[in-house]
Amino acid sequence: MTLSQKIRAAVFPVAGRGTRFLPATKASPKEMLPIVDKPLIQYAVEEAIDAGATKLVFVTGSSKRAIEDHFDSDPELESALLEAGKHDLLQTIKGIVPDGVACIYIRQGVPLGLGHAVLCARPAVGDEPFFVHLADDLIAGDVPCLTQMAKEHDRHGGGVIAVEPVPTEETSSYGIVAVDEADKDRIVRIVEKPAPEDAPSNLAVVGRYLLPGAIFDKLETTGRGAGGEIQLTDAIADLLDETPIYAYAFNGERFDCGSKLGYLKATVAHGLEHADTGEAFRKYLSEVIAD
Ligand code: G1P
Repeated sequence: MTLSQKIRAAVFPVAGRGTRFLPATKASPKEMLPIVDKPLIQYAVEEAIDAGATKLVFVTGSSKRAIEDHFDSDPELESALLEAGKHDLLQTIKGIVPDGVACIYIRQGVPLGLGHAVLCARPAVGDEPFFVHLADDLIAGDVPCLTQMAKEHDRHGGGVIAVEPVPTEETSSYGIVAVDEADKDRIVRIVEKPAPEDAPSNLAVVGRYLLPGAIFDKLETTGRGAGGEIQLTDAIADLLDETPIYAYAFNGERFDCGSKLGYLKATVAHGLEHADTGEAFRKYLSEVIAD
């Protein structure tokens, strides 16, 4: 995959239980947690659609039906909104999945890790390059992160992985890459969750990948790695000699919505920007801080 190709499929691994947000996530998927008025997974889908994806592949597990309902039409709600004359809300609901975009749901029967989840999407993706989007990592910016990555892919082909520097003591929470700066930041090494003393750099993989279809063959044979799980990172490491994969320092601010603090920060940042709440929320926050 050295030449660039239009990316049509986006994979959303959403089978994880979200134990860090219990009890909120006991009966409801963590991807349905709202930031102001939209669930995290809708931000994810909007980003993929902006980048040109027309096939949305959700790799789901038990207790995740709310995600399917969210992206399905709801004739009862639509007629209630119509009757009540709530046309703006009706348009909002109807526009969640635009025409021409298909949603495909695949169950990950056993929780064997991110690499296994991505492999489950193979029958829906085929051999084409595709996006992987982890909804926990919410990225705010003028140009959506996957769109930036698709443009990067257009420039030089190959795979693209979004990265950002993290404090050295946090390397054990991320995939960490080493790059060849003389070769457009081509990744030369990638390690899953290394201890700081073993980390090849402090450049962490965030939850956005543009990967060649060849990753699936690697995933078929990837054994269990960090945490006893089949790691996407290990399959990418196997691919590096055959296909160029580039690290991409995206423009934007990342919120780790898999953590309570990151989730709260994202809520504040989006609440300040939101047309309905921005002004009053800013006033409220300045009063709270002044107290
Ligand atoms: C996953 C990946 C890791 C990556 C991270 C980004 O880890 O395995 O390489 O850095 O997402 O959020 P997880 O956070 O699912 O443990």
